[in-house]
Amino acid sequence: MRVVRLASEIDFDGWRLAARALRAEGVPPEAVVWTVEYDLFAEPTSPVIPDEPKGRSGTAGSVGVSGGPGSAPRYGRDDNEGEKPFTVPKPFIDLAGQVVLHRSNERFALLYKLLWRLEREPRLIDNPADPDLTRARDMAKGVSRAAHKMKAFVRFRLVEGVEPETFMAWFEPAHRVTEAVAPFFARRFTAMNWSILTPDACVAWDGETLKVSEGADPTDAPREDAQEELWRTYYASIFNPARLNPRMMQQEMPKRYWRNLPEARLIPELIETARQRTADMVAARPNPPSERVLKAALRHARDGSYGEADPLTVEEATAAEQVCRRCDLWRDATQAVAGEGPARARIMIVGEQPGDEEDLTGRPFVGPAGRLLEKAMAEADFDRRKAFVTNAVKHFKHEPRGKFRLHKTPDRGEVQACRWWLDAERRIVKPRVILALGATAVMGVTGKSMPIAKARGAAIALDGGAQLVVSWHPSYLLRVPDPDAKARAYADLVADLKLAKGLAA
Ligand code: URA
Repeated sequence: MRVVRLASEIDFDGWRLAARALRAEGVPPEAVVWTVEYDLFAEPTSPVIPDEPKGRSGTAGSVGVSGGPGSAPRYGRDDNEGEKPFTVPKPFIDLAGQVVLHRSNERFALLYKLLWRLEREPRLIDNPADPDLTRARDMAKGVSRAAHKMKAFVRFRLVEGVEPETFMAWFEPAHRVTEAVAPFFARRFTAMNWSILTPDACVAWDGETLKVSEGADPTDAPREDAQEELWRTYYASIFNPARLNPRMMQQEMPKRYWRNLPEARLIPELIETARQRTADMVAARPNPPSERVLKAALRHARDGSYGEADPLTVEEATAAEQVCRRCDLWRDATQAVAGEGPARARIMIVGEQPGDEEDLTGRPFVGPAGRLLEKAMAEADFDRRKAFVTNAVKHFKHEPRGKFRLHKTPDRGEVQACRWWLDAERRIVKPRVILALGATAVMGVTGKSMPIAKARGAAIALDGGAQLVVSWHPSYLLRVPDPDAKARAYADLVADLKLAKGLAA
């Protein structure tokens, strides 16, 4: 039996070296025991983490393969003299880098078994049903989820009486992802001095370098600070009772993280009052959908069998979009934001997707991009109330960044999936003119990409008789840094609104 002693729980490099040596010698997986041996007498170290590390290696002690001669072959292509050449597939290397961070004791052995089998079964990596591979992939998924939760749930607290200003957070990740996630925080809080303490390892950023040290204890972290009251106020204001599903909520924000989240103490009360607040919200809706419409919506959603019964009215489409599962974007959105406006509008305006404010209010173009669009409309003498305003994608795609939800551009598959709704809205409203704002809108309307600079400024005939006018998306105008370019794009948008209005008259 061979015993491999790795230098740390996430010693990916050590595992690679040992696995290569064992493989070169032809030692089968069942003849290897993998252990992690901490060197209690090693000097405490503070290794600098490279960008996006896959794992920490050699913090204490070194790799040893005992019970047989060791070697230190390279990784990747293995063509030592006398050995059969063997190239480890890249997807396996990536998978192994993740799996090593899992807390399961079987991870190193499982990876070696897979490596061993890969040499003998070259197509193994493509077999979705293989139990070893499935287990490894599940572990990698767990690791990736733990990394995601860490990015979302770390809350820094000011350390009192320390100069320069320093922040600290205590966090207990489900897997050993601390070092892997640290570069994310370094990018996100570059100008801040901070440390994240976890039971596995601590990471610290001083504005230039990330340092890692041994794991810590919760009592090493500071207590609540004044910022947390602010954070709770924000959380309470964005909390949407209509979307409350305590089971889902606990899946997303497992209870294990609650004790370190300032907002968590609000949750029981918010849940308790959610029912009443939901009832109030529903009562305040201007036009609650009729029972017939809701039934139709559920029919659309049943078994994902969309398309069997097309929505026939704007109301029906609006309600049905709320239960859409054509892509995964519904999962993180508050609600679908359907198109709004007269059911027989001559002009349909198509944007990209709802933003943060649209997602919370359920109405298109009510945030910063909407305000800029309305300013341009006023200049073009364009009455928004006469247009049907909608988006190519109905759910808000975003990623959490601390307290914010950052917009993410929908991908081609998501735009394609949502075209079903845009097409339904087009069939119902039958606009004479469609004004598509930005590249995603053009893709949603035509199914093709077009450079806005070339396509804008003239009408394009669409199948079915409507005319397409293409223009810049107002968010692009908000982002473009050069003031001259911004002014030109704004003038284009005003001109395109006038063109659309003229064509529809
Ligand atoms: N951006 C869009 O494309 N649509 C909206 O509704 C809001 C912002």
